[in-house]
Amino acid sequence: MYYREWLFFFFYKNINFFRIKNININYIDNFICKNLLYYKFKNKNKIYLDFFLSYKDLFLLNNFLLKILNYENIEYINKYTYFYGLKIFINNKVFVPRIETECLIDFILNYIKNNRFYKILDLGSGSGNISLVLSKLIEKSKVLGIDINLDSILLSKINKNRLNINNVNFKLNNWYYFSSNYLYDIIISNPPYININDFNYINNNILYENFNSIFSKNNGLYDIYYIINNFSKFLKSNGLLILEHFNNHKKIKYIFKKTKKFKKIYSLKDFNNIYRFTFGIKY
Ligand SMILES: C[S@@+](CC[C@H](N)C(=O)[O-])C[C@H]1O[C@@H](n2cnc3c(N)ncnc32)[C@H](O)[C@@H]1O
Repeated sequence: MYYREWLFFFFYKNINFFRIKNININYIDNFICKNLLYYKFKNKNKIYLDFFLSYKDLFLLNNFLLKILNYENIEYINKYTYFYGLKIFINNKVFVPRIETECLIDFILNYIKNNRFYKILDLGSGSGNISLVLSKLIEKSKVLGIDINLDSILLSKINKNRLNINNVNFKLNNWYYFSSNYLYDIIISNPPYININDFNYINNNILYENFNSIFSKNNGLYDIYYIINNFSKFLKSNGLLILEHFNNHKKIKYIFKKTKKFKKIYSLKDFNNIYRFTFGIKY
């Protein structure tokens, strides 16, 4: 079967679905198939309409699109993603690193001063993406990533070994029971922050992800509140606590202020002009 035939066949077979979703055939051709080609068809970036599909190709295309129709994240299908230029393996038991989080890395890289040693703690390290990028790019650093999810820790260790980074460690740990003999220069976290009541409004991709990675009680603030109130004691004086969040930066700044443990408290925007990060510097 030629690619052209397959595309029409697939599109019209699922026409009702595509109508509801306002997806046209060019969208499928350009976006979905390109993704598939990039990852599975030996890095070709264009498939021509007269491309002849083998049975194996057909099987691959059908499976891929059925998964897409079910909204499974493309990263879970491919089993890897890129975060700040590093190839990070993922699986469907861990959170898929998001591009917004790269702004957090930009901020840290601007914040640090050359030739100083940094001890960094990453709370809720997921696939290890933040910890791995920071430990790779900040040579004079020692990074610890903790996560409550064993699958995250196992995967982070695989990523660490694959990338051959030595100044990072990952530990299974729950931030509600965290203790440490050390003080840190930087504590960073992209905690769960979606309000459980927003469940019906959010992107369907999220439904495929680990629930504990995404949702937090108290309008999405439960974990953020705990971290701000309990982690200043693990920071050195002038240490930085920075958190990713969603659309409630004023409340989060207020939580920082109320602790009376932080001097400079600011929120930062991501590249979509949304206040997405808030930080405080410990007195
Ligand atoms: C939004 S994901 C962030 C993952 C990764 N840091 C990133 O930015 O892509 C939140 C992570 O926090 C972890 N987590 C949730 N509650 C936790 C807790 N109480 N203690 C430690 N980790 C927790 C989840 O397992 C998940 O990996």
